[in-house]
Amino acid sequence: LASIEFDMTKVQEGQQIVIKWQGKPVFVRYRTARELQEAVSTPLSALKDPEADADRVKEGHSQYLVVLGNCTHLGCIPTFGTGDFGGWFCPCHGSHYDTSGRIRKGPAPANLVVPEYAYLSDTRIKIG
Ligand code: FES
Repeated sequence: LASIEFDMTKVQEGQQIVIKWQGKPVFVRYRTARELQEAVSTPLSALKDPEADADRVKEGHSQYLVVLGNCTHLGCIPTFGTGDFGGWFCPCHGSHYDTSGRIRKGPAPANLVVPEYAYLSDTRIKIG
């Protein structure tokens, strides 16, 4: 399928759901207020691949992060909610991502990729 739809009400606050899109895992995460605050308040100067959190989410839906679930180093699937920055940790070679999916430590060169997606309604997205 070129595109898929997902009902955001299926993911609970503080959790993530992994869906498949074009054979790849996609993480849909509903961030807590604290996780969101951490993502927003991190200065760009602290980032290896500088990108503001606001540019990685959709306006009005910033609690939800949608990213491809493959480490940008060699493609392993990072583990949710672990690592030094509370986002994800990739056990293959030790890359740490923050709550915006941005690389903070380890060999990965870039942030977790935000796929092309859009809100069809307040609670439904279409990826692809
Ligand atoms: Fe994730 Fe190497 S594949 S750190």
